[in-house]
Amino acid sequence: MTDKSPAPDETIRPHRLEDFIGQDDIRANLSVYLQAARERGQALDHTLFYGSPGLGKTTLAQIMASELGVNLVTTSGPVLERSGDLAAILTNLGRHDILFIDEIHRMPATVEEILYPALEDFKLDLIIGQGPGARTVKIDLEPFTLAGATTRIGLLTSPLRDRFGVIFRLEFYTPHDLARIVTRAARIVGVEITPDGALTLGQRSRGTPRIANRLLRRVRDFALVEGVRRIDMDICKLALDRMDVDPHGLDQMDRKILSTLIANYGGGPVGVKTLAIACAEEVRTMEEIYEPYLIQCGLIKRTSRGRVATPKAYAHLKMVME
Ligand SMILES: Nc1ncnc2c1ncn2[C@@H]1O[C@H](COP(=O)(O)OP(=O)(O)OP(=O)(O)O)[C@@H](O)[C@H]1O
Ligand SMILES: [Mg+2]
Repeated sequence: MTDKSPAPDETIRPHRLEDFIGQDDIRANLSVYLQAARERGQALDHTLFYGSPGLGKTTLAQIMASELGVNLVTTSGPVLERSGDLAAILTNLGRHDILFIDEIHRMPATVEEILYPALEDFKLDLIIGQGPGARTVKIDLEPFTLAGATTRIGLLTSPLRDRFGVIFRLEFYTPHDLARIVTRAARIVGVEITPDGALTLGQRSRGTPRIANRLLRRVRDFALVEGVRRIDMDICKLALDRMDVDPHGLDQMDRKILSTLIANYGGGPVGVKTLAIACAEEVRTMEEIYEPYLIQCGLIKRTSRGRVATPKAYAHLKMVME
C-alpha cells in the first residue's frame, strides 16, 4: 500500500504569515510590504532571502504568494542552464505572479543577463537568429516579483543584488522559537508534546526549524516504540542521545570538525579546504551547513589565515589547550 498523505514537511509548512514563527523583524516588515503592494495594486518589489539551509526561505516565498493570492512559479539557479529556459518561464508568468529562484547564486551569467531588463522594466530582450542577420526583439512581460533565495549572498554579483528592493537575512532561531515551532508541528501531526520536551528539542536543533521538525519525527518513533504517549523531556533526551546529538545540538560531524581542528591542526588557523578534506566532507557543505552554526555558537572563528578553534570549543570537547 502506498502512502498518499502529503509529505510531512508540506503539511507542517506554514502558509500564512501569522503562522510563521520567529524572525520577528522580517515578519513585521514583510507584512507592511504585502499590505502596501495590495493597497497599491502593484507587484511586490523583488525580494531576496538569504541564510543557512532550513531557516524558512522557501516557506517565506510561498507565504508571499498565498498572502497576495498569486501564483508561485518555482525554479532554481542550477536548473536554468540556458537563457531560453528562463525566457520561457518569464513569458508565461501571470500578472503579479511570484517567480521563486532557489539557489540564485548558482544561476549562469548568461541567464542572469536576460534577467536584468526583466527585473527593471518587465521587458525581455530576445535575440533572434545568428551572426550579422541576428536582431533583437523586445517582449513585454507582465509585472511580476522575483523572490530569490540563497545560502551564499557573497556569491551574488552586485548588479543582481542591487536589483532587489528588499533583502531579508534569516537568522538562526532561538530555542524558545524552535520550541514553539515543534509544538505547532506536533499539534498538526497529532502528537502531544510537553513544554519541557519542546524546549529540549529547541535547544538541540542547531537553531534550524527543518532540523527541529526532523528531530520531532525521530523522537516520535522512539516514543512509539518505548510506549510513551506524551513526548516529554525524558523521551527527548533518550532519543537525542541515541541519535548522538549532544546537549548543544552538535552532531557527530560538528564534533569531528572541532576535534580535527584541535587535534590535527593545534586549533588552527587552518584553511577551510584542508579542514574539509581532513573531515572527508565537501567544502561547500562545510561552508554552508556546518561552519555557520559553529561560528554562531562561538566555537570556531573565521580569520584571514583560516579557521580557529575558540576556548569554548576546547571546553566543549573537554580537551586541554596545548
Ligand atoms: N518560521 C517558521 N515557523 C514554522 N516552521 C518553519 C519556519 N521556518 C521554517 N519552517 C519549517 O522548516 C522547514 C524548512 O524551511 P524551508 O524549506 O523554508 O527552508 P529553506 O530556508 O528554504 O531551506 P533551503 O536553503 O535548504 O532551501 C519547512 O518545511 C517548515 O515546515
Ligand atoms: Mg528552500
